[in-house]
Amino acid sequence: MKKLAKSAMALLVSTFVLASCGGGSDAAAGGETKPVTLKVAFNQSEAHPQYKALQEFGTKLEEETGGAYKLEISPNALLGDQRATAELVQSDAIQMAVVGNPILESYNTDFSVIGLPYVYDSQEHQKEVFTSGVLNDLFKSVEDKNITVVGSFTAGARSIYTDKPVQTPADLAGYKIRVMQSDTMKKMLDLMGGVGTPMAQGEVYTAIQQGVLEGGENNEVTYVDLKHYEVAPYFSYTEHLMVPDLVIMSSSVYNGMTPENKEIFDRLMAEAINSEFELWNADVETAKATATAAGATFVEIDDLTPFQESVKPLQDEAINSSETAKALYESIRGLAK
Ligand code: GCU
Repeated sequence: MKKLAKSAMALLVSTFVLASCGGGSDAAAGGETKPVTLKVAFNQSEAHPQYKALQEFGTKLEEETGGAYKLEISPNALLGDQRATAELVQSDAIQMAVVGNPILESYNTDFSVIGLPYVYDSQEHQKEVFTSGVLNDLFKSVEDKNITVVGSFTAGARSIYTDKPVQTPADLAGYKIRVMQSDTMKKMLDLMGGVGTPMAQGEVYTAIQQGVLEGGENNEVTYVDLKHYEVAPYFSYTEHLMVPDLVIMSSSVYNGMTPENKEIFDRLMAEAINSEFELWNADVETAKATATAAGATFVEIDDLTPFQESVKPLQDEAINSSETAKALYESIRGLAK
């Protein structure tokens, strides 16, 4: 029933989007005679650092392409949850979306490597990985499904929040903790001692409030943006994940750009990725201050080793799942200082 309602909604959205979309690719527009509106689905608010980075990207793109391309960002999951919006991109109903890395695991399991627990040592390490080109092949690996990953944003480090401080995996026994919708994420949380419960982000607040979940895991910015501190006031720094958020685009639109416009697009996207790292750090501090003022507690964990050890089987499984996965893992680790 719920599923049916969701697909009906997706259909409605895509009909609406198709009807209101400004155009196709350069090629479809007959060599840029018609400006192309790139509709972007975003599942968080206008205050989010990724929204700000994308907005700036859009302004510059329009300027530098002489108006050939413009961005229209729909925030607050207006076009659906991340899984639904990836499908809208795939079917060319919209042109772009920001989705958490776990969403792409169902298109190619090698993506799980770049979202593994404790794979990045620090933000500097992650930035190096995002900007060094080592992910280029992975990002083009799902073009047969009409999806090109055109960039990856940091979403900080994720930690666990619930109704009590957490210090060890034993503290999570029997605790249903929401995870993003992928098998890897579920396995991870189970190994960390709790019960991983995959769910779309928009449903989490009510689920915790109603006792369907005991908590969730996310970064400070989203914890505060979605007011989850109201229902789960203890945020304990497990810092188990630094999951990339991927900017995905319809391959037919991306590959339909003229070489000049593509060069502009890629260059501005690289700038947006760098600037989002800066915006991110400032927003984490603001988010923590807001939550603390509202009564939330941020808990440092004395020893992270038990959590790090607990997820080793998952790392081994993902790394050994294919030759490409292994090579990818090695090149990521090779960039750690
Ligand atoms: C973060 C991430 C989102 C993701 C969300 C989630 O906020 O930036 O891309 O949707 O976590 O937990 O679903």
